Amino acid sequence: MGGKLLIILTGASGGIGGDLIPSLAEVDSLIGIYNNANPPTRDLKNVSLQKLNLLEPGEIEDFISTRKSELTRVTVLHFAAASIDGLVASYSESDWDHVLNVNLKAAFLLNKALLPLMMRDKWGRIVHISSYVARNGRVGTLPYSTSKAGLIGMSRTIAKEYGRFNITANVLTLGYFNSGLTQNLKEEDRNRILAQIPSKKFGDIGNISNAIIFLMRSDYVNGAEVQIDGGI
Ligand SMILES: NC(=O)c1ccc[n+]([C@@H]2O[C@H](COP(=O)([O-])OP(=O)(O)OC[C@H]3O[C@@H](n4cnc5c(N)ncnc54)[C@H](OP(=O)(O)O)[C@@H]3O)[C@@H](O)[C@H]2O)c1
Repeated sequence: MGGKLLIILTGASGGIGGDLIPSLAEVDSLIGIYNNANPPTRDLKNVSLQKLNLLEPGEIEDFISTRKSELTRVTVLHFAAASIDGLVASYSESDWDHVLNVNLKAAFLLNKALLPLMMRDKWGRIVHISSYVARNGRVGTLPYSTSKAGLIGMSRTIAKEYGRFNITANVLTLGYFNSGLTQNLKEEDRNRILAQIPSKKFGDIGNISNAIIFLMRSDYVNGAEVQIDGGI
């Protein structure tokens, strides 16, 4: 890909984010961001971990200023997310605020802090992580599905504003994966979901890392939504 690249991956302590670290660290250096849970220790020479609450703009600013010399030709992968289920008519305002803040506002704050560095380098890759429920909806997922749909608009607007700096912003729209929350599904729920997936299986982590590497290598896929969902 030419020149030193750096991947910033949020949600490094999450199921999918954590599982992606080994394959992405083969591409180049990676900073894994977590908030509360310690990510599994990764004895990989290219990987460092950073504790950072993405809802605190001051913590983001400190992170950028402390590690500025490392932050060249950055790809940011927004895997951090929150989800609190409930039906619309009884949904709590504070839960709505929390999910929207983690899933949308945190992405805005981190993008805002990184874009000046990307413009300086005339190189940047932003990858937002959406879900098939953004387009399909699912009972009980009000702020989650709403925020995941919002990321599509955020990507397209960033693509239009910053494309001329060789900065791309795209969305991966994920279905069900053999990682993270799906590991806790009851057998009957798992079978019900599998019946709806044309590919008749949950996705492997390699499907996501391949798409990320493709987006890192392309300077002309911009504002796109890449569905990785087995056709659900
Ligand atoms: N699992 C699936 O099948 C699936 C399907 C569709 C889409 N997705 C999307 O894929 C991504 C990863 O999913 P997952 O299942 O791996 O999620 P997960 O296991 O629930 O992990 C969520 C991550 O978000 C981090 N986080 C939450 N609040 C934060 C904050 N304020 N500051 C910094 N980090 C914060 C958590 O950090 P701490 O734990 O350290 O607090 C954790 O690392 C999410 O965007 C999700 O919406 C997943």
